[in-house]
Amino acid sequence: MDFASELKRHVARVERGLDQFVPRANTRPARLHTAMRYSLEAGGKRLRPVLVLATTELFSGSDDAALPAGKADALAAAVAIECLHTYSLIHDDLPCMDNDDLRRGRATAHKQFDEATALLAGDALLTHAFALLAENYAAQPQLATALVRALADAAGSRRLIGGQMEDLLAEKKADATADELEFIHLNKTAAMIEAALVMGGLIGGAKEGDIATLRRAGRHLGLAFQIIDDILDATADTATLGKTAGKDAKADKTTFVKLHGVDAARSIAHENSAQAKSAMKNLEGETVFLESLIDTMAARIS
Ligand code: IPE
Ligand code: IPE
Ligand code: MG
Ligand code: MG
Ligand code: MG
Repeated sequence: MDFASELKRHVARVERGLDQFVPRANTRPARLHTAMRYSLEAGGKRLRPVLVLATTELFSGSDDAALPAGKADALAAAVAIECLHTYSLIHDDLPCMDNDDLRRGRATAHKQFDEATALLAGDALLTHAFALLAENYAAQPQLATALVRALADAAGSRRLIGGQMEDLLAEKKADATADELEFIHLNKTAAMIEAALVMGGLIGGAKEGDIATLRRAGRHLGLAFQIIDDILDATADTATLGKTAGKDAKADKTTFVKLHGVDAARSIAHENSAQAKSAMKNLEGETVFLESLIDTMAARIS
């Protein structure tokens, strides 16, 4: 397997899917649909949708032109998770949250448009994610329900939104604990990464045991991913990140860097990446691509 070309193949599918499954920019009201596409089309690593596509293929094979009978196409679900993720970024950047000017190398949505438009574009992307699942998996109602549940659980008040709430509550907190920090990272970030793997497993027809394994791998990968994001915020430059560096220290966020320092944070990230990879090895299919993807994410800080 050539990792780089596999990754390219998955990302290209995601880009085509985003274009196919999101309303055209000139759909009325054009300002709203233009803002939705502005944030989506700015790029980004597409980690979550690639995880959906690659995990589906673990269980149902790689030829998307000739899916085995009864197997669903993962592309709509991949686009749904990227829509939901992009909504979370638009809202995360708002002045009432992290107050960021730059995202994915572009002005943030509220800078490019205005706060109300950014708020509504986020709302619309969030809603659209669930519409995509309901519409595109309607022929398999049990699968559609399971996908909606997986995404709603990950994105809801106990997970992504709950993590975002505690992230804000923990700003400027001198006595934040390791437990609070873990809650924030497991929920604001790992929840969606777990969901990407689980949704891929559901579409591919994975058995319950494999779904549990995917969830465990996602928990470790998600934790590693957010710790890496914290380290890069403290050590990389704005041009490389495509978002403003040094924001966490400025806002006095509770991060792994603040609580443990860069070096310890780096080893905790690598430890979690290794745990994610060893969880993957318990799956039946060929997990080389997913393991290499985990290595590529970890290599951002090595
Ligand atoms: C940013 O996510 C928010 C975090 C959870 C750290 P990504 O780093 O995946 O952002 P994009 O999608 O590549 O822009
Ligand atoms: C954001 O974490 C996580 C979500 C968007 C849910 P951060 O606030 O650290 O993400 P960045 O650094 O702005 O991308
Ligand atoms: Mg934030
Ligand atoms: Mg932020
Ligand atoms: Mg960050």
